[in-house]
Amino acid sequence: MRFEQISEKSGYHRVDSTGPGATVGAPPARVPGRRVRPGIGIADSIGSPAAGPVPSYIAEMADDARFRWIVDTMALRPGDRVLEIGPGSSASIGCVAGALESGEYIGVDRSAAAVTRARTRYAALVEVGRVRLVQAGVEQLRLDRPVDGISFGSGTFDKVLAVNVNLFWTKPPVTELALIRRLLGAGGTLALFYGYGSPDTATAVGPKPSSDKLVGYLDAAGFDSRAVTAGDLLGVLARPR
Ligand SMILES: C[S@@+](CC[C@H](N)C(=O)[O-])C[C@H]1O[C@@H](n2cnc3c(N)ncnc32)[C@H](O)[C@@H]1O
Repeated sequence: MRFEQISEKSGYHRVDSTGPGATVGAPPARVPGRRVRPGIGIADSIGSPAAGPVPSYIAEMADDARFRWIVDTMALRPGDRVLEIGPGSSASIGCVAGALESGEYIGVDRSAAAVTRARTRYAALVEVGRVRLVQAGVEQLRLDRPVDGISFGSGTFDKVLAVNVNLFWTKPPVTELALIRRLLGAGGTLALFYGYGSPDTATAVGPKPSSDKLVGYLDAAGFDSRAVTAGDLLGVLARPR
């Protein structure tokens, strides 16, 4: 396991890896309708007179350092098909969907209350189909059977994301990781993040697993992975071998 060195570049945390093709931390992807100059991020475009009204999810991303770091670190591309496991009704929904253009965002959460809250909070994105939310446990997903009319077939997603979802460390998540391995397309990435604090300060907020534990479970499930840290936040980026 290798921890990556984190440095500041152009206002963004960047992770420079020594591994092949493993650099992450590209500036945020362009958001439709926004004028984001090359070399600057979404946050920098807020308040620009040329940019026009700011959709709430973009303003949210500018405000939320945790999810801004997460979106940067997982190196979202505009066309990515993203599955988030356990988004609750958190700002990750707006931040991730806001970083996509032709891609898609599907959130799967087992809590009916959380899905209802998320549908209300992100009603505008749900209405235009940029966000789809499914009430189900990840363990209920099947490759050969749509859930809520959504197919979860083999190779459906480029990125699978989970933030503060305990199932990945409180027991060996053998079944879940086997499913995620199949759901990811070639070159896809599973991104697990923990921590509720800031990427800038190390004050611990909320429980976190050790990166060794996560990497060990991922290794046993056939993923190559590496840990990334910033302040209170821990991420593990994993690719099927
Ligand atoms: C601690 S909350 C984190 C919410 C959000 N990701 C964040 O970081 O603010 C964990 C969420 O994961 C969901 N969850 C837990 N186990 C799950 C499972 N097996 N499948 C889908 N969702 C799950 C819970 O319902 C809850 O919304």
